[in-house]
Amino acid sequence: MTQTTAFKEKFHLSRAVTALAPMQDVTDLAFWKLMMQYGGPDLYFTEYFRVHSDSRLEKGILESIIRNPTGRPVSAQLIGQDVPSLVRTAKELQNYPIASVDLNLGCPAPIVCRKDSGGGLLRQPEKINRILGELREAVQVNFTVKTRIGFESPDGFDQLLKIFAAHSLDLLTVHGRTVKEMYRSEVHYDFIREAVTTMPCPVLANGNVYSAIKAEEVLNLTGAAGSQRYPRLPMCCAIPAQMP
Ligand SMILES: Cc1cc2nc3c(=O)[nH]c(=O)nc-3n(C[C@H](O)[C@H](O)[C@H](O)COP(=O)(O)O)c2cc1C
Repeated sequence: MTQTTAFKEKFHLSRAVTALAPMQDVTDLAFWKLMMQYGGPDLYFTEYFRVHSDSRLEKGILESIIRNPTGRPVSAQLIGQDVPSLVRTAKELQNYPIASVDLNLGCPAPIVCRKDSGGGLLRQPEKINRILGELREAVQVNFTVKTRIGFESPDGFDQLLKIFAAHSLDLLTVHGRTVKEMYRSEVHYDFIREAVTTMPCPVLANGNVYSAIKAEEVLNLTGAAGSQRYPRLPMCCAIPAQMP
């Protein structure tokens, strides 16, 4: 079974899906190996590949794709805003065994947002529309997006969802905080629920999913297909239904 098919199949089974939330300089190949010892999630995301006009695929991150020891589908995450460079990188990545190309619309680091990348792009919905259109055309494997619910506030989230819905995404991950809220605020699960009810593709819920019980609570609150976890404890990574 190809990575693309394995990814699709995860969302056709009638149970919750778990994914390891990507963390730069944390969720590398060694970390994935550790996760495997605890059963591991259904899906893995790479740390993000930085994309700009001179960028090359970062060897360490590529290594995790080539040597993927997990036996599970892997999504390769991109961060950037230069359309030709994003398209070039998405095409290059498809020469490797990946299940999806994932676009980061959530990173709140000031150095990233100042360049209008990651979460910074949420200030430019029209540009997002253009990027998604070009990437959708270039990506033959699954095409997925990870977003926050807005930059300063979630006021334009419904408009963002309309843009996402127009580009035949295969999965949308929603981190239920604004960019300004960084990592520590409460998580606005009602907006994740809005994504679930609006989007024509599966939605992964993200934000404060730190245990099986919490994951179940979040899935009940949002109706999401699954949750993307940032595991404070490695042993959190298993599907909720199978956790003790
Ligand atoms: C150290 C660190 C690195 C991160 N790197 C990435 C990344 O490369 N790509 C991404 O989409 N999110 C990244 N995130 C965000 C997490 O994937 C996740 O969305 C966020 O931590 C929210 O989950 P939490 O409330 O359980 O922490 C990072 C978070 C942390 C703490």
